[in-house]
Amino acid sequence: MAIIIDGKITSQKVKDEVFSEVKKLTEKGMRKPCLAVVLVGDNEASKIYVRNKKRSCEEVGFISLEYLLPADTNQEELNTLIDSLNSDDTVDGILVQLPLPEGLDEQSVINRISPQKDVDAFHPQNVGRITLGKPSFLPCTPAGVMRLLSEYNIEISGRECVVVGRSNIVGKPMSLLLLSENGTVTVCHSRTYDLAQVTKRADILVVAIGVAKKITADMIKEGAVVIDVGMNRVDGKLCGDVDFESCSKKASYITPVPGGVGPMTIAMLMQNTLTAYKMHINQS
Ligand code: GUN
Repeated sequence: MAIIIDGKITSQKVKDEVFSEVKKLTEKGMRKPCLAVVLVGDNEASKIYVRNKKRSCEEVGFISLEYLLPADTNQEELNTLIDSLNSDDTVDGILVQLPLPEGLDEQSVINRISPQKDVDAFHPQNVGRITLGKPSFLPCTPAGVMRLLSEYNIEISGRECVVVGRSNIVGKPMSLLLLSENGTVTVCHSRTYDLAQVTKRADILVVAIGVAKKITADMIKEGAVVIDVGMNRVDGKLCGDVDFESCSKKASYITPVPGGVGPMTIAMLMQNTLTAYKMHINQS
């Protein structure tokens, strides 16, 4: 039976670290870090994510600003808000919750956010810095996975790492972070001919494809480390992209869903906001 990697405990540890740094800074008379979250429209899942982000900000001692815009907001109105947050000296981090309603151009919104306040690390400048191995911010979900691996002392260097999924938010940056820790990295996706043949090679397997229970025990190596980034709802119940029941009998370590990677994403967002704050106060 695999060791269960506990994202709830680890995310709490990250948030405690952020909280104690904020406490030290505010005791010295400094202002609190501030994260601005923008939500356009009424996507139910996005509303829950935004609520959780706000709650975490309060937990770690940040100021959280929330901008809830109607679904018919146009690009110009959104640009105006982003411009004003960019130039607001009391705002350290800006996050525009994705997906945006149809008609709004996500990439152009991301491009508009000041790279110094881009706590999602989605801006091309930040993506470029990650590619060069010189990041200002690490993308939250892949950074959460890296923290889980280091928390459980899982060696990456030299090992076969297979990432399933090539999204800009998870798969692509995940492969870069594993590479920067000297993993031997392969990226699989929907056009991969024989997925099982590749996943079976993995010492560390990270799955982010959004297909419930896609990875079954016959697709993993005995003793593999299995990280499940999936978050699917099947018959009202949350489940990952990995068939936990069968894979947990064969893996050495495995993340559950919920309670694995999920809670890490927000914790790493708090860490990024603290980083943005420190950069901000050091340059002003
Ligand atoms: N939607 C799903 N995941 C994310 C994320 O990490 N950041 C933002 N801004 N939107 C998302």
